[in-house]
Amino acid sequence: KRIFFFKSIKSTMDYAKKIAERDEPEGTVIIADYQSHGRGRFGRIWKSEPGKNILMSIILRPTIPLEKFSILPFLFSVSVAEAIEKNTNLKITTKWPNDLLINNRKFCGILMEASITADKGDFVILGIGINVNQSEFPKEIQDYATSLYLSTGKVYDRAELTKDILRQIEVDYEKLNKDRDFKSVIERWKKRCTMLGQKITVIQSGKTITGKAIDIDETGFLLLEDETSKIIKLSSGDVTV
Ligand code: BTN
Repeated sequence: KRIFFFKSIKSTMDYAKKIAERDEPEGTVIIADYQSHGRGRFGRIWKSEPGKNILMSIILRPTIPLEKFSILPFLFSVSVAEAIEKNTNLKITTKWPNDLLINNRKFCGILMEASITADKGDFVILGIGINVNQSEFPKEIQDYATSLYLSTGKVYDRAELTKDILRQIEVDYEKLNKDRDFKSVIERWKKRCTMLGQKITVIQSGKTITGKAIDIDETGFLLLEDETSKIIKLSSGDVTV
């Protein structure tokens, strides 16, 4: 499998997409030390100090049905969480849909971009941003963001961490392709989630929806119960507890 490394790049997502369009096989990983145009969900900016964190994108050509692709960021979330727990003494929790938190602060985000074409094969780019050794965050997010360093006071070897994360992802991804056990992926994800049973607010395409978080279904949809006991199914959005 190929790994590309860039000292600086616009975004690993774009590069991964470009080479995937030219038939780069599944499993190729693009890693960068710095991104000038790193992006997050909903077109947000993903800022990361040079040389401190893990920024990578992975090319996948999943064999699972298209309508199940939404499971992939959940799978990657548990793989990353497990690999990081093995390397630190931290307790990692999940926040719907695809954030990883330490003490309620986000340190990892996962972004999935799928390219579905009639002629060429479908591919998916999974982007992972992990705050590892960064010690300061911009004012606007400093109450919500953290890093492994800020949580433990230790500086981590990014190469070692990346290796463990990629190994765990590979094991979990191959297993899913074989056994198609979507339920167990969501179960592993839910075990780390502190939000279920709580009253939450979700902002989805400008609309605010409040209710009790009931469950996450097999494809990663959030089931929310509103005041009238109606169950609302959400595919994406931003959650505040
Ligand atoms: C989010 O939480 O909104 C997702 C953040 C994803 C960031 C990663 S960093 C590596 C890859 N390249 C990007 O431009 N974004 C993803």
